[in-house]
Amino acid sequence: MDTARGTAHIVNGLDYSVAAGQTVAVVGESGSGKSVSALALLGLLPGHARVSGTARFDGRDLVAMSEAELRSVRGNGIGMVFQDPMTSLNPVLTIGRQLTEGLLAHRAVGSKAAARERAAELLADVGLPDPRGVLAKHPHELSGGMRQRVVIAIALAGSPKLLIADEATTALDVTVQAQILDLVARLQDEHGTGVVWITHDLGVVAGIADRVLVMYGGRCVEDGSVDEVFDAPAHPYTRGLLGSLPSLAEPGADLVAIAGTPPPPTDLPPGCVFHPRCPVRGNPRCATEQPPLVPVGGTHRAATFYAEGAR
Ligand SMILES: Nc1ncnc2c1ncn2[C@@H]1O[C@H](COP(=O)(O)OP(=O)(O)OP(=O)(O)O)[C@@H](O)[C@H]1O
Ligand SMILES: [Mg+2]
Repeated sequence: MDTARGTAHIVNGLDYSVAAGQTVAVVGESGSGKSVSALALLGLLPGHARVSGTARFDGRDLVAMSEAELRSVRGNGIGMVFQDPMTSLNPVLTIGRQLTEGLLAHRAVGSKAAARERAAELLADVGLPDPRGVLAKHPHELSGGMRQRVVIAIALAGSPKLLIADEATTALDVTVQAQILDLVARLQDEHGTGVVWITHDLGVVAGIADRVLVMYGGRCVEDGSVDEVFDAPAHPYTRGLLGSLPSLAEPGADLVAIAGTPPPPTDLPPGCVFHPRCPVRGNPRCATEQPPLVPVGGTHRAATFYAEGAR
């Protein structure tokens, strides 16, 4: 990304895949590059951003697609829930217009009346009371949580093959969150939807994801199946994240918060991006050499010099 301070490499060397019906959770603290990496896939970064590499969806490379092709994929094969719901809602159109236009464009329904019927069903599915009333409203007439649910309904309307959800339920009550997670699971069963679930809430990850990808400083520092990563986290950063999760900490154990804050992408440290905050000390390589992401067993990979004897 070109900035006033030169070119900042916000996200580096990310490499992962999502199979049909699978859920990959992308986790990491604020500023680790979770949203930027998702927006990059969909060609939604501002004009001064440059994306290199490939992102295959259904055998086609998203990075190489024209704006028009991307728009059609975004509307059709890929559903996206953005972190800020207002960016994806049009303030001057009613919720009904926005939902039915999408449904008609996807040819999911044959008539306007059928589209309204389906739109009301979708709003009920995401737990909105009085769905017909909501159809007639404009975005500013709804609460933040209601808008968030509308955005989720719009993303699911086309029964996408891939759903990218960026902090989709973080702001919602636990009961509504559970309802939405169930809805997404149903969509996965019925349509084989692959899901990228971006969150800094590790609590939901174990329950919904097949795989986890941990980001730090714009890099993947660890990935693997949920069992591999949760049972034997290899990277000191992941161990810190899991240690700071109340429900997973051992009973009576003190919660370990990771001291300090993540580095901005314009000011990444040399060596391992995490070393200035790392609680494990003593390996001089950490300050000078960037540990590569290497297999540590099964489908588990980690980028750390401390992977062996990790616990
Ligand atoms: N358009 C942009 N131009 C320059 N830098 C940007 C731009 N968008 C994001 N960044 C920077 O990229 C880094 C990663 O941001 P990103 O939004 O991906 O983080 P995140 O992991 O999604 O965090 P959060 O959990 O807060 O949503 C941040 O340091 C951010 O300041
Ligand atoms: Mg984000």
